[in-house]
Amino acid sequence: MPTPIPVVFEAVAPLRNQVRAWREGGDTIVLVPTMGALHEGHRALVAYAKTLGRRVVASIFVNPTQFGPTEDFSRYPRDVDADLAALAEAGADAAYVPTAETMYPEGFASRIELDGPSEGLCGDFRPGHFSGVATVVTKLINQAQPDIALFGEKDFQQLQVIRRVTRDLDMPVSIAGLPTLREADGLALSSRNRYLSAVERAVAPRLHAALEGIAKNLAAGGEAGPLLAEGLETLEAAGFGPVQYLAVRDAETLSPVTRVERPARVLVAAYLGRTRLIDNVAVAPGS
Ligand code: PAJ
Repeated sequence: MPTPIPVVFEAVAPLRNQVRAWREGGDTIVLVPTMGALHEGHRALVAYAKTLGRRVVASIFVNPTQFGPTEDFSRYPRDVDADLAALAEAGADAAYVPTAETMYPEGFASRIELDGPSEGLCGDFRPGHFSGVATVVTKLINQAQPDIALFGEKDFQQLQVIRRVTRDLDMPVSIAGLPTLREADGLALSSRNRYLSAVERAVAPRLHAALEGIAKNLAAGGEAGPLLAEGLETLEAAGFGPVQYLAVRDAETLSPVTRVERPARVLVAAYLGRTRLIDNVAVAPGS
């Protein structure tokens, strides 16, 4: 028997009624926001969400306000039926698939303004992106009213921005993160990997390999500057370019780090052909 499709909500009121009924029954509710085009990484998020709370709501909304004018909003892959089947298989209890009209009705005029962890890294290359993410995630949390909202470390800066926003705005929700799911060769799973040609796909895992090399040397006491310069050369020689950033940052504040004394992160964004890939790994001091 195929797994039943989770109940689908398109509007806020019925979603809230369901969440309220679950909470009154003593259940913890976990929200997993996504833009669809679901892969193993998203399925793992939903499966992990199931271990954090009894009820999981996954949202699917390709959010226009986080894409720049030259980015891939119109060609972003959309297949709601396949996504609902994937959510069912991963154990989601409900899918929230709001319309653009529900999220951004006529006259919508508000946006969250950010400092701190949104600055630098992707923030330098995608103006307005994190403001769009923070605004839509705040809306999704206010709409679904979960106890916990879960995000992937794959988008590490996004995760830290969301942690900051929910804390700063006193939102009654806990934010949880899940380590990045990878292909066997190390490539981080991403909805955008399907844009890669066969040749690019063969080169792509070298992004993660470069990060791991830098992280290992930093953990052994190395200095960020020369390690990053060498890493950049390696990536460019492998065929990446432009490399938008390759950086070492404090894992919480995302401020620059030269030597690792507290938990840190090595982060990268680089083009491979026409596809922009991002990745990051942890550095634990003295490991
Ligand atoms: P999307 O790219 O669809 O990702 C949805 C969630 O899946 C995010 O929390 C992301 O970090 C996580 N994810 C993606 N690839 C992953 C991987 N390989 N391993 C673990 N988790 C992974 O991120 C967004 O959507 C949007 O910005 C959103 C938060 C939904 C706001 O619109």
